[in-house]
Amino acid sequence: MMDGKIIKIAIAIIILAVQGCYYDAENYLYPESVCNSKGYFAAEVQPLMNTKCKSCHTGASAGGGILLETYDQIKTNSAKVLSTMNHAANVSAMPKGEPIMKACEIKKVQLWIDGGMLNN
Ligand code: HEC
Repeated sequence: MMDGKIIKIAIAIIILAVQGCYYDAENYLYPESVCNSKGYFAAEVQPLMNTKCKSCHTGASAGGGILLETYDQIKTNSAKVLSTMNHAANVSAMPKGEPIMKACEIKKVQLWIDGGMLNN
């Protein structure tokens, strides 16, 4: 009787713990309503390109011939970068094969472009 109750409680705790792991840590720490992006290149835009885009946009076989490694390359392709991230109709949706990125991630690029694409 008592053992059964303990087991049920233990199972409930395990289920809650496992569900907790599915929460995207970034969403939890920075919900969309608190997007603190300032549009800095080095701190925001380049790290985003590095994690979400660079693997396919480097070297001789870069996707669409678009290189997204350096400041100059990202600046040159900035308009297209933003429209692909926004899944605009006239370009291929990026990152290829993945769902649209978080609004706060897209906003980093938008703010950087709006701010004049500084190398900051
Ligand atoms: C899994 C590989 C992959 C990833 C990750 C990826 N791309 Fe691409 N990208 C491609 C390929 C391949 C193409 C060529 C067009 C196509 O096949 O859809 C392309 C094309 C593009 C183009 C040209 C689109 C056009 O219609 O002219 C841009 C700009 C671009 N990618 C930006 C990005 C950005 C920004 C990211 C990250 C947010 C990204 N890509 C992530 C593979 C990738």
